[in-house]
This record gives sequence, C-alpha cells and structure tokens, in this order.
Amino acid sequence: MYGKPPCRLGVLVSGSGTNLQAIIDRIESGEIHAEIVCVISNKADAYALTRAAQHRIPVVVHENAGFTERRSYDAATVEILRSHNVDLVIMAGFMRILTDVMVNAFPHAIMNIHPALLPSFPGLHAQQQALDYGVRYSGCTVHFVDCGTDTGPIILQTVVPVEQDDTEEALSARIQKAEHQTFAAAIKLFVQGKIRVVGRKVIIAK
Ligand code: GRF
Repeated sequence: MYGKPPCRLGVLVSGSGTNLQAIIDRIESGEIHAEIVCVISNKADAYALTRAAQHRIPVVVHENAGFTERRSYDAATVEILRSHNVDLVIMAGFMRILTDVMVNAFPHAIMNIHPALLPSFPGLHAQQQALDYGVRYSGCTVHFVDCGTDTGPIILQTVVPVEQDDTEEALSARIQKAEHQTFAAAIKLFVQGKIRVVGRKVIIAK
C-alpha cells in the first residue's frame, strides 16, 4: 500500500547553488523520488543557502574556521549528515577535497559534479583549462567521490561543444546547463537503485 520512502539527500554547497536548484525543482516536480533533508555550506554567504531556505529545507553553516585538520572538519560533517539520516551525499559546488573520514562514512554514496570530461582537466578552473588546451569538446562529469581530486568512478558524462570564440564565462554557462540535467539523471539512477560499482566502473541497470 505504501511506496518506498524518498531517498534522503544531504547537499554540500559553497556557492550560488544552481545545481542545488535544479535538484530541488526535479524533486518538486516528482521526477526524482527524494527529499533534501539538509543543505550544508562551508560559506556563510553562499546564495545556495537562500535557495534552500526558500524551499524550507534545513540549512547548516559549517565553516572551516576552528578546524585545524581537514579530517576533523569532515568528522563533524559526517555527524551532521548522520543526524539527518542521509542516504546520498551530493557535492553541488562544494569546494573542498574530502578526506577518508567522509569517503569511508558514505561508501559509493557521495556524488560530485565536475565541469569537464574527466579525467581531463581536474581541479580548479576546468573550463579555462579546456580553453587553454584548445579542445573542441568539453562537458561535465558526475562521479562518485574518493580521496583524490575528481578521480572517483564516473557515473555519467555529457559532451558540450567548445566554440572558437568562447570565453570562460560563455563555456561555463553552456556546461552548467548540461550539469543540471546530468546531475539530476545520476541522482535519479541512484534513487532507483540502478547503480552498482565494480572496481572503477559504474554499472547502470537498463
Ligand atoms: C559547478 O560548475 C560545478 O561543476 C562546480 O561548481 C559549480 C557549482 O555551481 N563543481 P552552482 O553552485 O551549482 O551554481
């Protein structure tokens, strides 16, 4: 009589939160059977917090100050996520590399979006790296998070063309549109129980 309860998402943010918004919109439209149970920001002024509040999603400002070690910061993050019974952690523009403390607490249950076709152009300024290299195509990658910089198993990728006269802003905007679709699609697959990880490979059930 009762369906499966919605998957409980914890979303980590640092910035404007357009990816967060895209996820909120798809949950509200019924496309993704999930609930965002908390949004955690390491920046007190992140606009993502305003977006969350507009949708009555509980927010936690969890700043770096006071934590001398990355692992103790992560241990505190794990505690917040556990206190909300989170099933899947979403890094939606969260500008920190995770330690083993977070990665081991949520094995194959932390997703990140990166604005390039990994393994090309990991790290910061991925769009500018792509422009400087002169590639014709870039895109975005949703992957599970491990302790490296953008190195975890790849779930989905979307290719985006690079135009000859692109600026970093223009390419970023084009990639970001793809990010919103791709992230939502990956979350939906997880929520539907269609994702399995074998070594480095992510197997998606048909
Ligand atoms: C996105 O471009 C994402 O690829 C990168 O950070 C940006 C976050 O944007 N990891 P937003 O905060 O979701 O608007």
